[in-house]
Amino acid sequence: MSHAMPFQLVLRNGVCLLPWGKTQLDIGIVEGKIAALGQLGQAPAAEVFDAAGLHILPGLIDSHVHWREPGLTHKEDMASGSAQAALGGVTSVFEMPNTSPPTTTAALLAQKLSLAMGRCWVDHAFFLGATADNISSLREWEKLPGCAGVKLFLGSSTGSLLLNEEGLLSQLLQNCRRRIACHCEDENRLMQRKALAQTAQPQTHPLWRDEACAFGATQKLLELAKAKGARLHILHVSTEEELALLQPARAFATAEVTPQHLLLSAPECYERLGTLAQMNPPLRSPRHAQALWGALHGGLVDCLGTDHAPHTREEKAKPYPLSPSGMPGLSTLLPLMLNQVAQGNLKLEQLVELTAHGPARVFGVRSKGRLALGYDADLVLVDLEKKQTVDASHTRCGWNAFDGHSLQGWPVATLLRGQWVAREGKLVGQPEGKPVEFEGALMG
Ligand code: DOR
Ligand code: ZN
Repeated sequence: MSHAMPFQLVLRNGVCLLPWGKTQLDIGIVEGKIAALGQLGQAPAAEVFDAAGLHILPGLIDSHVHWREPGLTHKEDMASGSAQAALGGVTSVFEMPNTSPPTTTAALLAQKLSLAMGRCWVDHAFFLGATADNISSLREWEKLPGCAGVKLFLGSSTGSLLLNEEGLLSQLLQNCRRRIACHCEDENRLMQRKALAQTAQPQTHPLWRDEACAFGATQKLLELAKAKGARLHILHVSTEEELALLQPARAFATAEVTPQHLLLSAPECYERLGTLAQMNPPLRSPRHAQALWGALHGGLVDCLGTDHAPHTREEKAKPYPLSPSGMPGLSTLLPLMLNQVAQGNLKLEQLVELTAHGPARVFGVRSKGRLALGYDADLVLVDLEKKQTVDASHTRCGWNAFDGHSLQGWPVATLLRGQWVAREGKLVGQPEGKPVEFEGALMG
């Protein structure tokens, strides 16, 4: 192979997770892109990194993150949240609209993009929140640069975003051409059952927001989407029952599962973690976690998303149900799942499918999410043997539901478009994250 330009960087001898499997080879990078994959010998390079003994994965794409800026920056902001991403091997983040104010107009989307410029350690895109007032505009706005698509809250969660009236939902599904990311909990049932949430008893959270809340909302939305020819992405699937709905809807609906719904379950999580385990939709009984693992192994799950939703310890210390729902997850996504690889519950190839190939396919991401020629050199180098204990004391919210867990398999360095952004647990370089580009933005 000959190359017109010397490489800016050659990563030598890492075990690379190509789309068709693991191979030990060199990666040559030019102008932030993967320019060569193979045996590069002594090809001229400005920098050579010996990756022998390490695995190289496409940088993770986390399509479900709450960064809290603007308005809630005591919990997190774009700088602190994107730092967690870079350190955790996540090189692209799609951020949710339930900030303050919520991202419901083109101007507010533009504001987020400018807030991110020069402060964000990873590439990023922002969801627009669907409301009764913006449905007719979303058809145009969903195509704007830096927009990940539309997020729909069928049931109310953190913040004020909600759209559950059937006529409006039909209009929304008719209008949007990109895949709509959906939080499926049935608002009417949530309101009817609110009294089941007992004061200072977070273990009643999955009783209040029960299986039927999730099932009912997912069922209704899938039916409407089928009728309207819309495409959905069902976020944080949490019940065995919803999985049965998803299987016949594969042609137009994709699915996300979170690490916490796979790895934590009731009642143990509430006994041990109290309100730190409180999130929407709730962590449920082991029956559901087992079913989610089965779906994942059966290929019914397209993405792992963190639903990174930090709240401060003080906020979480309020007596349930005054305590807010949500937990952070950006910095633990990769080590938690690598630890599952170490335990034999997951193949490394599956991890790559669920955290890079899958999100790229689901959202139509351009030139990211694969180790392939011409793709962005968004890379994470991982040490499958490294053992370390989760410690989130240095993060803005200061905690993680997995604090104190000893995990095997950690990221040791992250590259964003060919630039080092994290090495040995420290940020390096500058926050030069850019908006992610999508196929959907090209549609007429
Ligand atoms: O638990 C949750 N927390 N679920 C959501 O839907 C929102 C999130 C948050 O923003 O805190
Ligand atoms: Zn969320």
